[in-house]
Amino acid sequence: MSKMYAAIAGTGHYVPEKVLTNADLERMVETSDEWIRTRTGIGERRIAGANEFSSDMGAAAGRMALANAGVAPEDVEAIYVGTCTPDMFFPSTACLIQAALGAKRAYGFDVSAACSGFLVALDTAAAAIESGRIQNALVVGAEKLSSVTDWTQRDTCVLFGDGAGAVVLKPSDRPGVRSTLLGVDGNLDDLLYLPGGGCRHPASAESVRDRLHFIHMAGRETFKVAVTTMFEAAKEATRRAGLAIGDIDWMIFHQANLRIIDAVAQRLGGPEIARKAIVNIDRYGNTSAASIPLALSEAVADGRVKSGDKILMVAFGGGLTWGGMVVEWI
Ligand code: ACO
Repeated sequence: MSKMYAAIAGTGHYVPEKVLTNADLERMVETSDEWIRTRTGIGERRIAGANEFSSDMGAAAGRMALANAGVAPEDVEAIYVGTCTPDMFFPSTACLIQAALGAKRAYGFDVSAACSGFLVALDTAAAAIESGRIQNALVVGAEKLSSVTDWTQRDTCVLFGDGAGAVVLKPSDRPGVRSTLLGVDGNLDDLLYLPGGGCRHPASAESVRDRLHFIHMAGRETFKVAVTTMFEAAKEATRRAGLAIGDIDWMIFHQANLRIIDAVAQRLGGPEIARKAIVNIDRYGNTSAASIPLALSEAVADGRVKSGDKILMVAFGGGLTWGGMVVEWI
């Protein structure tokens, strides 16, 4: 029997209507549009409504991905959701999306790997399809980071936004997913963390007082590790795909900071390569696990990504966690 591969068969995305501009943030904290643009590349971000949650955004992105892949919701076999802002601990966001979509045959679960959650979920789905155990999977990245953002802290609140992206993975006789590399380093847990609400710091008046339910980040240190780690992951994922960096058509890096994206791309191959970076951080900020599938889906929808294109995706986030993947657009 010939080897079975996994390939992306459809993409989808969703962002909430409400736009929060840098000018809006100037009225909330001591900051400026100029600082935010030059230090991060962000111009605006989307904010979910009070009654709009990660599962709602993930279901909307999932619905679009299924329609584009020609897969009916009732035929979906697995739903994997990368998120660090699940609606709740349980039921998982995957269960809520399963119900919203009417995917009555599907099982599913959430992947906790912060901003790398989507790539970890995609790798898990690819492995399940390559093994022949399942015939399709819906892989979602969905985040409501506005719910865990400390809106009084200018060093973090200017960075984050809400949204979702999704892909449908199917078996293929040609390799769509060409390589994967995943890693974690729990020794660097203190660079980027959200400690409140877990068993170590359960919700309490004290944990709320100490602002433990918000994202905390050592920005400058995280920046340096992000550039080095993403560069290495990009190189290794490309090598494992049997490709040289010049063979890559598009690079989709986690949208955390335009300066990180530029630094990694320039290191990989100078301005020629940097032009291949797909960027939407200017419009959405950092949407964590949603950022890669959101950027991919937009690039597919506007016709940039074409059949045969090789796409290098690289993630980095709290944990620390990281991942690199090369997929070929079948
Ligand atoms: N407006 C104005 N000034 C600000 C702001 C702001 N919003 N935020 C910080 N500053 C000030 C600081 O107070 C500091 O002032 P000082 O020099 O007087 O002390 C100065 O600007 C420079 O601060 P730095 O933190 O050194 O600024 P830097 O250039 O490093 O940018 C940033 C900060 C944007 C956070 C950057 O470090 C970064 O992007 N870090 C990495 C983010 C990342 O990759 N995260 C991982 C993924 S996210 C996830 O997993 C959820």
